[in-house]
Amino acid sequence: MCVLITGGGGYIGSHVVLALAETQKQIVIVDSLENSSSSVISRLRELVGDGVKIDFVRADICDGPALDRLFKEYDIKSVIHLAGYKSVAESVEDPVKYYRNNFSGTLSLLSAMRRASIFNLVFSSSATVYGDTAISPISEAAPLNPVNPYGRSKAFVEFMLQDVSVSDPRWAIGVLRYFNPVGAHFSGRIGEDPLGVPNNLVPFISRVAVGRLEELSIWGADYPTPDGTGVRDYVHVMDLAEGHLAALEYIYGRPGFHTWNLGAGIGYSVLEVIRAFEQASGCEIRYRVCARRPGDIAQSWADTTKANSELQWKARAGLYQMMKDTWNWQGRNPDGYEQSR
Ligand code: NAD
Ligand code: WQD
Repeated sequence: MCVLITGGGGYIGSHVVLALAETQKQIVIVDSLENSSSSVISRLRELVGDGVKIDFVRADICDGPALDRLFKEYDIKSVIHLAGYKSVAESVEDPVKYYRNNFSGTLSLLSAMRRASIFNLVFSSSATVYGDTAISPISEAAPLNPVNPYGRSKAFVEFMLQDVSVSDPRWAIGVLRYFNPVGAHFSGRIGEDPLGVPNNLVPFISRVAVGRLEELSIWGADYPTPDGTGVRDYVHVMDLAEGHLAALEYIYGRPGFHTWNLGAGIGYSVLEVIRAFEQASGCEIRYRVCARRPGDIAQSWADTTKANSELQWKARAGLYQMMKDTWNWQGRNPDGYEQSR
């Protein structure tokens, strides 16, 4: 029996595949490659070696018949569902695109899983579902108050999953609310490679470091935080990946609906991130302080008590390690996966 990873060609999914390869002999990835590259799949196969089989199906999760064929071909026990869009700004410009892919895509997946009698699901949600009212450290009990279409698409999926879990006791669903995933696999072969100009802080910094971007704009230094810049909970993507394994383990035999925050539980400011990156890479990061970015909040970090106690999961990497691994990836692959996109 094997595990299906939707979006396994993407940034987080590819790291989840590597973590899963420690315990699984066969992994199936479904990805449209809309925001990833086929070279990720070949690099994953190189990294896991001959002992683990990674099958790749290029398909859109909105395509029900394609999912039916996939579930018929492989003996799948559970699904880790990461496929989706993730840009807040784009979701404001084109909300329908986001609801279609993130919400309808998940609906299509759930329907196909039900047809195939597969009821174990781990879903990638986001701390963005808490919106701008929650007080840090944010616990899973905080109300959901998403403030943009991307966040709402995630919250709507969470509500749907909750309803589905009530409707049939065979469903075992784990929802993971990621804080700010950063870093890369220690090999430097797999990492984050956003198309176009990155929206997120760490990929932006690393592109300044390799000379692909001139300088970082710091979006506001007048927040009520210790140094005035925004504070976030950065979590190493390999720690995050381990969290998926723990969640999968937990839901086997525990049907129902479960939610966990996956973060380090520590907040770092933009300036602290820049300094840690400079130390880890030896590169100087040029920056300019600009006005606040609309929609940003001052600070956000996770209360990770629930994941610590229920999943026995705790993020291990500190900020320096996260920046070192980011640089190890970006420095070795200044153009990312460019050649094969
Ligand atoms: P990513 O874009 O790198 O990966 C997503 C993958 O899904 C891509 O390979 C893309 O080609 C694929 N995909 C998208 N729509 C698809 C579809 N309809 N059918 C098949 N494949 C499809 O993004 P990521 O950073 O790896 O994020 C993975 C998940 O985690 C997303 O659901 C995202 O919303 C969530 N998330 C990400 C972050 C973050 O900061 N990166 C934070 C919180 C939550
Ligand atoms: C971090 C800090 C910025 C870029 C976003 C999504 C969220 C989630 C993770 C998916 C903030 C500052 C950033 C830059 C800057 N994604 N910054 N200059 O905003 O916490 O969350 O990504 O679920 O939904 O909203 O992450 O990396 O964009 O920003 O100064 O060029 O860095 O203002 O304080 P954010 P981020």
